[in-house]
Formats: sequence, structure tokens, C-alpha cells
Amino acid sequence: MNLIVTAGPTREPLDPVRFLSNRSSGKMGYALARVAMQRGHAVALISGPVALTPPSGAQVIPVVTAAEMLAAIRRQWAWCDALIMAAAVCDWRPACPALQKIKKARAPLSLQLEQTPDILSTLLPAKGRRIMVGFAAETERVTPEARRKLREKGLDLIVANNVGQPDAGFEVDTNRVTLISVAGQEETLPLMTKDAVAARVVQWVEQRRKILG
Ligand code: CTP
Repeated sequence: MNLIVTAGPTREPLDPVRFLSNRSSGKMGYALARVAMQRGHAVALISGPVALTPPSGAQVIPVVTAAEMLAAIRRQWAWCDALIMAAAVCDWRPACPALQKIKKARAPLSLQLEQTPDILSTLLPAKGRRIMVGFAAETERVTPEARRKLREKGLDLIVANNVGQPDAGFEVDTNRVTLISVAGQEETLPLMTKDAVAARVVQWVEQRRKILG
């Protein structure tokens, strides 16, 4: 299969020296790209700014903002059979990024934020036969929120991720997730390495491809 994997955070500029972002390290997305390549798939890894070495042989497309990530996915869309959105896309961006550095004398400073495009929802009308997998980063009501996102974003699978625990989610090498499929199946995995979670997710996509034919 031809897979697009997104990874890492996005950064939304406030001025030429500052940005809004989040704690994503990119480890889950890079593990997905690595495992998918080991299993014989072609991977386009669309990555926000991270401090990781990409798997050798992956086509890496670096992006910074949510809008750039969406544009990069669109450019690969005709080629791709499945999209795995492991990126932690910033939900907001400064409405009017300053062209020059904002000086501290401007205090008190209030920021006006606008929503970034929701990448999965934007691509849904063009889904076709593609398989779309999302991740739900939650700190509370993990499973119900993940089910809502599965439905609202029209996904085949969502990986529900409790990011409020020290051994799962952001920055660490392990994760504790539940896979929730569009058919209503739920599979709660024990604490595992991100490589092991990635292998399970890629296997799920392979099986789904077989079922869909
Ligand atoms: N996502 C996206 N575009 C965005 C934000 C998120 O495509 N602007 C994707 C993420 O890559 C992930 C899924 O949507 O695969 C769920 O992301 P998450 O941050 O958990 O949820 P949100 O859509 O931001 O919803 P909420 O703010 O209600 O948690």
C-alpha cells in the first residue's frame, strides 16, 4: 500500500520568533512510518518539527503549520491508499501573525486566535476508497470522545490515547491505547512500546484493505 503518515506537532506563528504548539514529540508517527516500511509499504512521512531521525528510505515532507500539513497531504492524495493522522495538529492559530517581533512594551497583550482547518474533516469528502485513521489525544472521557471523533471525522479507525498518564502519550516511548473501529469493535491494548502499537495499527489497516477489496 501507499501510506501517508503524519507526525509531530504543528507550529502556528505568532510573530517571526514565537509560535503556538504542543508537546508532541513525533515518536508515535515515526514508529508508524518505520513499521509500515518494514512491512513492505511505501510511506510518505509528513512531519511537523521534531528532533527525530526519519526511517531510511521514507519520503519525508517537512511542514510547519496545519495549513501546510493539509496542503502536503493534498499533494500526495491521488497516490495514497491510506492516511494515518498521528500528528498533533494545533487547533488554533494567531488570527493576525505579526510581521515584526512583538515587543514586550506592548503589554498587556491579548491574542486573538482562530481555528486551523480540521485536516481529517476537510479531506473526508475526497475520501473515496482510502482508509483514514485518526488518533484521539484525551485527558478525560477518553473512549466517548474518541467515538465522537471517529463518527464526526468519518474515520475507519481511531486510536484512543490517554495522554494524561506519565507512561503513555506525549514524549515517552510507550503508549496505552484502545483501537475503535467504524464497525464498533474496541480493542484495548496493554502498555506497549510505540513500535508495538504501530505494528497493531498497520496490521489493522492491512486487514481493512483486504476486507474492502
Ligand atoms: N486533527 C486534524 N486537524 C486538526 C486537529 C486534529 O486532522 N486541526 C486530527 C488529529 O491528527 C487526530 C484527530 O484529528 O488524528 C483527533 O485529534 P484531537 O486533537 O484528538 O481532536 P480535535 O479534533 O482537536 O478535537 P478536540 O479539540 O475536541 O479534542
